[in-house]
Amino acid sequence: MVSTESKSGAAALTDCSSDPAGATQIHGSFDVPGNIARLPLPLRLPYDRNPNFCGREDVLSAIEARLAPHADSDGLRTFSIYGLGGMGKTSVVTEFVYKYQSCFDAVLWVRVDDIAKLDESFSRIAVELQLVQAVDTLDRVIRRNLVLDWTCEPRRATIPEGGEAGNYVKLAKWLLVFDHADNITLLGDYWPKAAINGSILVMSRDSLTKTKLASHHKIQLGHLDSVVRGQLILNITASDGHVIIRPRPDLGVYP
Ligand SMILES: Nc1ncnc2c1ncn2[C@@H]1O[C@H](COP(=O)(O)OP(=O)(O)O)[C@@H](O)[C@H]1O
Ligand SMILES: [Mg+2]
Repeated sequence: MVSTESKSGAAALTDCSSDPAGATQIHGSFDVPGNIARLPLPLRLPYDRNPNFCGREDVLSAIEARLAPHADSDGLRTFSIYGLGGMGKTSVVTEFVYKYQSCFDAVLWVRVDDIAKLDESFSRIAVELQLVQAVDTLDRVIRRNLVLDWTCEPRRATIPEGGEAGNYVKLAKWLLVFDHADNITLLGDYWPKAAINGSILVMSRDSLTKTKLASHHKIQLGHLDSVVRGQLILNITASDGHVIIRPRPDLGVYP
């Protein structure tokens, strides 16, 4: 069962091919690339796309409606998914990212298991966005703040029509995924408070995500319904659609 909660009305139609308003060229030229990322980033997720993924269309649509960049806003969009372990949070978010990857210039995946994982993720992202060099020995807090600062003005190099490469920047469209955010309080120092032109997706077992992230759109993930579960079994067994379930009275098991 899936229950949804939302604080505002229907989202505008998504247009992944065009920039949101205000996200066009913001500087004519620049001398010091500094915090200007070279984007789009190649998609690097900790999980492969699941070829057996099925169902959850309502959840995918809800996330898309809320998080895909819209032509009328360069603000911050947020969404959280909460539910017990094993319900499929990571699966549906992974499917969402693969399906809608063209909507974003950068997908930044963060593990929130503990502070060490958070720092590790932010350090990797700082390198991926080329805010620091891989060999940099910068402090973990500095690396984290470089990423957070970038989300406040997420500049990316771009090539305008007829222009020279690297002479212009525009706002990037980014998605930040907080996975395993079971302890929401850990997010405090890692939450991009003043970010713009981006989307944040939080996955958590903590039903209190509901209240702790009160201003967010959110969805509770329950069990897959029985039809989808049947489909999943067919997918996994690559069956032709005929599933034979034999009773095992010896085990006390009946279909
Ligand atoms: N919609 C789905 N389609 C196919 N497999 C799924 C689906 N949802 C979950 N699974 C499978 O169920 C298992 C647990 O899902 P997972 O996404 O890791 O749950 P959670 O992140 O909520 O702990 C995984 O092995 C995954 O492959
Ligand atoms: Mg998970």
